[in-house]
Amino acid sequence: MKFYIETYGCQMNVADSEVVTAILQKHGYILVNNIDEAEIILVNTCSIRENAETRVRGRIKVFQQIKKQKQQIKIGVLGCMAERLKDQLLEQEVAVDLVVGPDSYKKLPYIIDNVVSGSKKVETELSKEETYEDILPYRYETNGISAFVSITRGCQNYCSYCIVPYVRGVERSRSPESIINEIRELKNNQYKEVTLIGQNVDSYLYKDISFSQLLKIVAQEFPNIRIRFSTNHPKDMSNSLLEVMATYPNICKHVHLPVQSGSNKMLQLMNRGYTREQYLKLIENIRKNIPDVAISTDIMVGFCDENEDDHRQTLSLMKEVGYDFAFMFKYSERSGTYAAKYLKDNVPEKEKIRRLNEVIALQNELSYKSKQQDVGKTFEVLVEGYSKKSKKQLMGRNSQNKVIVFDVMDNVIFGDFVKVNVESFTSATLIGKMIKS
Ligand code: 5AD
Ligand code: SF4
Repeated sequence: MKFYIETYGCQMNVADSEVVTAILQKHGYILVNNIDEAEIILVNTCSIRENAETRVRGRIKVFQQIKKQKQQIKIGVLGCMAERLKDQLLEQEVAVDLVVGPDSYKKLPYIIDNVVSGSKKVETELSKEETYEDILPYRYETNGISAFVSITRGCQNYCSYCIVPYVRGVERSRSPESIINEIRELKNNQYKEVTLIGQNVDSYLYKDISFSQLLKIVAQEFPNIRIRFSTNHPKDMSNSLLEVMATYPNICKHVHLPVQSGSNKMLQLMNRGYTREQYLKLIENIRKNIPDVAISTDIMVGFCDENEDDHRQTLSLMKEVGYDFAFMFKYSERSGTYAAKYLKDNVPEKEKIRRLNEVIALQNELSYKSKQQDVGKTFEVLVEGYSKKSKKQLMGRNSQNKVIVFDVMDNVIFGDFVKVNVESFTSATLIGKMIKS
C-alpha cells in the first residue's frame, strides 16, 4: 500500500515522521510524495497552540474532499492532537479512520491492516520506555546534509501553560550507543551536520551519562560533523555543558534558551523554575565561556494576569540580552493544563495582539543589530543548497545558525564547508562573498 505523510509542528514531529516512515517501509508500505497516488494519508500533528490545531483541521477537510472521490483512501491522525483528543477526533472529523499517539507508532502497520478491513481505530497509550532507539529513521524530506537526531522523548517540567507533558508523556533518554549509531549512519551517507533534539536536552540522562557528557562523546567521535542541539532549559543548563561547547570547535556556537517572560511574577505563574536574575546570570555565563555565541529564545505574551508592567519587563529583558533571533507567541489556553484549570486567561485578545506586535517590532530591531555586527566578519559556512531567490547564489548557515547567501563559485558543492565574508544583510539573511582558499 502507498502512503503519504504530512508533518506539522516542531522538530520532534519531523523526527517522528521519519520514524513512522521507517516502520511502515519495513512492513512493505511504499512512501509517495504525491498525495494523489496515496492509499493512506497520514498527518502528524501539533497541539501546542489552538491555531496549530485549526490548521490541521483545515487539512483534514481537504483530505475529506479527496476521500469523496476515492472512498477506499484511509486517513490517519498521528502525534500530539491524536494523543490529546483521542476518540473525540473520530467523532468530530468523520473522514478520519485512525488516531495514533506518539508512543504507538510501532503498532501502525497492524492498525492500518485492521482499518483497511473496516474498523476505525484509536491507539494512544503513552509509554514510560518507548524511545524508538532500535529504529533508523528514514530521512525523506532532506537536503542530505543536515538531520535531526532525537535524544530524549517527553517532558516533565509541567510549565503551567504547556500541553506537551500530557501528550508526549514522561521523559526518556536514548542510549548513547543508539545515538552514535544513528549519527555514524548519517556520516556514512555524507551528512555533515546533526541537531540533537529533545523537549529539554539538559535533562538527558542515560544511566549516569548527562547531556554534557553525551555531547562530549559525540563531538569527539565525529570531529568532522557539525553538532547542534535544541532546546535548552534555563533552569537546567549546566556549566559543564558550557565548557564542552567552548572546547570542541565542531559544536555550534548557538544556544536556544526560551525565556518566555522577563517578569518574575509571570515566570512563577508559568512554573518555569528560574527568576529573571538567574536567567540573566546564565546569559552572562554563556557569553563569558563562548564569546562568539548566538542566543535565541521563545517569548510568550498575554499569559494569565500579565499586566503592562510585566510586559515592559519582557521588553527590557529582551533588550538586555540582545537576542539574535526569537520565536514569539501569544498565549493560547490548552485544556487540561494547570493554567487552564486554575488560572484565568484574562488578557483580552486585542491586548495580546498589541503586546505580541511590540515584542516582534523590538526583536526586529535586535535582529537587525545582530546582523549589522556581523558585517565585515568571516564565517565558516556549511553549504546547504541554492538560495531561495536564485540558482546563481548558494545558501548555508554559520556556526551561530545564521543564514548566509553568497554567489556561486566553481568547485563548490552542497555539503562543503567554505569561508564567507559578510558584506551586507537583508531582514532575513546575511549576504557575503566566498573567500577562495
Ligand atoms: N500558548 C502559546 N505558546 C505556547 N508555547 C507553549 N505552550 C504555549 C501555549 N499554550 C510556546 C512556548 C514554548 C514554545 C515551543 O511554544 O514559548 O517555548
Ligand atoms: Fe512545555 Fe515547559 Fe516542557 Fe517546554 S519545558 S515542552 S514549555 S512543559
